[in-house]
This record gives sequence, structure tokens and C-alpha cells, in this order.
Amino acid sequence: MKKIAILTSGGDAPGMNCAIRAVTRVAMKSGLDVYGVYEGFKGLVSGDIIKLENNDVSEILNKGGTILKTSRLPQFKKRSIVQEGIKQLQKKRIDGLVVIGGDGSYRGAMALQQMGMPCVAIPGTIDNDINGTDKTIGFHTALYNIVDAVNKLRDTSSSHHRCFVIEVMGRKSGQLALHAGIACGSEIVITKDFPYNERELIDQLLYEEKVKRKKHAIIIVSENLMCVHNLANIIDQNTSFSGRALVLGHIQRGGTPVPEDRILASKMGKKAVELLIAGIAGQCVCIKKDGIINMDIEIALNEKNEKDILLYKLFEELV
Ligand code: F6P
Repeated sequence: MKKIAILTSGGDAPGMNCAIRAVTRVAMKSGLDVYGVYEGFKGLVSGDIIKLENNDVSEILNKGGTILKTSRLPQFKKRSIVQEGIKQLQKKRIDGLVVIGGDGSYRGAMALQQMGMPCVAIPGTIDNDINGTDKTIGFHTALYNIVDAVNKLRDTSSSHHRCFVIEVMGRKSGQLALHAGIACGSEIVITKDFPYNERELIDQLLYEEKVKRKKHAIIIVSENLMCVHNLANIIDQNTSFSGRALVLGHIQRGGTPVPEDRILASKMGKKAVELLIAGIAGQCVCIKKDGIINMDIEIALNEKNEKDILLYKLFEELV
């Protein structure tokens, strides 16, 4: 292994730059040349591949987003397109690739691996929805962003006797919502695994205001489940809270990565390089019980994703 490349793919996540820096620095110290592939699989297929120097990864540790840019390329499922990506890597005599992204990116890495290009995947997504790993790069920063926003909403909600229904990201996963519910002390959390019943929700809010004398209420909802504005209207009409809704959106994905993401990304970047050098590819880097390990990508993707019942119980006990 003399030359490796690195790309970021799918939705960006704070901490991706820390992983790019770690891969580049660790690989260079081991005598490898490192190439950056711009705009994910799209840049791979079009050959947008440029050699990285030590300086290219200086002062990026604190930057959100990804200096390599990213894209989503659904066509990367086609063999002919994957083959084109491999051709571009071969043109530059690149022997291995590190792919940072979510499960779609993992599938891309698996396709490249199956067609002969050694690949290692690193979990980079705010959603924390990749099987095989306890945490993904970007999750903690997004959570911090949510907590910061909810703290501010709580101030104004309290002045106005309001109930805020806040939609957070997560694609199909309730991880951000559930963790945010605990970290923000919200009254209600709604996710795919923990849905709601309208009558019970209203009864709970009436109890919160009349018996517990709460001045405000916060409801955190995972995206893709409902229209939060409708729920806010229902609350407005059926309780004495005035109902307001907010879709937090992409603000959750921006900003400087928190230390937890920086450190996780640095550990994972180092591990990815070590795996490629050792000739162990087709793997993804994972953190399990605080240890950095590797797993076959396909096995990781097929791992069963349990409902977070313990975490939800903790949330309920704290309300
Ligand atoms: O996967 C990360 C994520 O931010 C999801 O939480 C969200 O559903 C999606 O990406 C948004 O995608 P886009 O940036 O393409 O709008």
C-alpha cells in the first residue's frame, strides 16, 4: 500500500474534517501518499482526485462541514459507474480508499471493495443510525446544537406560556430526538419507535400546566413523522399553552465540532489507515463500549438495530 485516497459522502457531519486530517497525517507518517477525492462518489467517477499535502489539513480540526465537499450519488449502485470510479483511482495508482459517510456511503464502499478496490468505511453522520457502531461522527455536535437551540426556545416559551413542538433531524432514526429529550428536559419525545396518541398527549400537557404548574412545555419530534405545525395548532386549541412549532433543519448540522466528535474522528481515522496498511479491507471502523474496533461492512449493515427502550425509560422517569 503506497497511495490511499479519502472521500466524504452523503450529508456532511461536523468532525468529518478531523477524520480527514487524522487519515492524512497518520498515513503520511507511515510513508503513504494521500489523495483527496472531491464531492464524494461524484468526484470519484469524474476523477476529481487531488494529492493532499500536510498543509491541506492544517487548521481544519475546528471547521464544520467537509473540506473535501460531499454529494449523494444514487447511481453509484450501477456496476458500470462503480467500475468508472475504480478506473479513476487506478489512473493515479491508488491502492486503497477511506470512505466517510452514512449507510449509503458504506454500500458504495462495499461495491468498490467487491470489484477489487480495498476500502475502509468510517461512520460520519449526525443521525447516529449506523449499525455496528455505538456512535457516529457528528452526532454529539448536532446534539449540542439542538440543546443550544432548545435552551433559547425555553426562555421565550416560559415568558409566553407556550408549548414548542420542535422537529429535529435523524432521517428515520430517533436517536437525536431521544438524546435531546433527555439533555433538554423536554416534556414529550416522539420518535418512530415511541409514537404518540393525541388524547394522551393533550392530557399530559393539561396535567403539566394544571397540576405541575409548568410555565412552558417542550416537545421534541423526529423528522419525517408528522407536520409539527399541525400538532402545535391542536395544542393551541386544546390546552391553555399557546402552541408554536419549529423545524430546526440544517442548523443542526453546522458549526465547529465538539471535542467528543473531534476525538472520535481522530481515533477512527487512525484505525482506518492501520487497517488498510495491514491489508484488512471491506471493513468499517466502529466504536463499541468505548473501544475502537473494525467489522465487515456487510455484517455491520445487517446488524439488528434495537429500540432504545432503556433510554426512553430514563426519559420518562425524568419528566
Ligand atoms: O443524514 C443526515 C441528514 O441531515 C438527515 O438527518 C436528514 O434527513 C438529511 O440528511 C437531510 O438531507 P439534505 O441535506 O440532503 O437535505
